[in-house]
Amino acid sequence: MTELSIGVRDDATGPASLTATRMNRHTFWCGQSGSGKTYALGVVLEELLLRTALPLVIIDPNADFVRLGEVREGVDADVAATLSSRDIRVLRPAHVGGDALRARFSTMLPQSKAAIMRLDPIADREEFNAFLHLGDSNEPLDARTLMTRLREAADPGMLAIAQRIENLALLQWQIWAGENPAASEIIAERPDATVLDIGGFAHPEESLSVVLSVLDDLWMRREERRPVLLVIDEAHNVCSPELTGTLAVAVRERIIQIAAEGRKYGLWLLLSTQRPSKVHPGVISQCDNLGLMKMSSPADLAELGSVFGFIPDELLARAASFEQGQALLAGGFAPTDGVVRMRERYTHEGGADVRVPVRG
Ligand SMILES: Nc1ncnc2c1ncn2[C@@H]1O[C@H](COP(=O)(O)OP(=O)(O)OP(=O)(O)O)[C@@H](O)[C@H]1O
Ligand SMILES: [Mg+2]
Repeated sequence: MTELSIGVRDDATGPASLTATRMNRHTFWCGQSGSGKTYALGVVLEELLLRTALPLVIIDPNADFVRLGEVREGVDADVAATLSSRDIRVLRPAHVGGDALRARFSTMLPQSKAAIMRLDPIADREEFNAFLHLGDSNEPLDARTLMTRLREAADPGMLAIAQRIENLALLQWQIWAGENPAASEIIAERPDATVLDIGGFAHPEESLSVVLSVLDDLWMRREERRPVLLVIDEAHNVCSPELTGTLAVAVRERIIQIAAEGRKYGLWLLLSTQRPSKVHPGVISQCDNLGLMKMSSPADLAELGSVFGFIPDELLARAASFEQGQALLAGGFAPTDGVVRMRERYTHEGGADVRVPVRG
């Protein structure tokens, strides 16, 4: 059995591990701000890179994982050599430099394109219909030609689409792939890990659009049954029950679908957030594994207790007094339900906490 060495048992009786083969379930990783979730995720991801061939797709809103391929000084030479040999792609907004994070509009699903354009099939009946027929010719158009055709068309719906594209500044977005590879195309090659640094775009809709393009592509190719672990830190950004707006809702609905049906196709989720209520019930109810870090709120603990009914209340209650780095692990991936202390990271953290400047 492949064990992931993530730290030591809290009662100091020995090393703590997770069972790698049981990552074929969805996992929920929860804890209040500063409890060490992002750090702990990094430890789990390092172990998966070291000991499995499970490809990772990491949705990273704060550039926390952009240095996942960089090993810290002093790390065991074999570990360092293995980690350094893994194929880790870091895709970032184009203006940051490095490999750019992009989406290909032309290959996205019609309903996702409509979501990006904020088109509603009923409220925007005429325009939506004109948009549907735009794709009839099957001829790939560059943006400039498309805009010219739209403006010159007799159909008022077409002119409305041109105005919509301009008003939303869609052509100024950085994410469009054009001649370059889209994130979904890179992920389809199944590198060992693909980090999607989704923060830092000028338009917030760009992040959601890239995420949607990646999720749709994984879903459309589900019959290929090629496993992937989809890691989403700060999962409330993409699957909070409170999200509104056509695009955000489209992203959330796709995650709910992957949570409900993805498992048998090898689409497994590892989601992290601060409170259980920040993730849609249709997602959290599908999670079998729990990683729980410090959580003081009795209401949040009670909610977790009702979702993960197999965990004794006394065990959950211990999370209120956890220190940073302590985690309760429960579910199939934990050889025994219990509390652990996460080990130190082998690789560099990206955006570490900002410290208070002190004098002298
Ligand atoms: N086990 C650990 N060992 C050493 N440092 C740690 C450990 N866990 C967390 N830290 C440090 O504590 C800080 C906060 O941790 P982290 O960013 O993982 O918290 P978080 O739970 O993800 O918080 P948030 O919800 O605000 O994102 C980071 O600077 C990190 O380097
Ligand atoms: Mg975090």
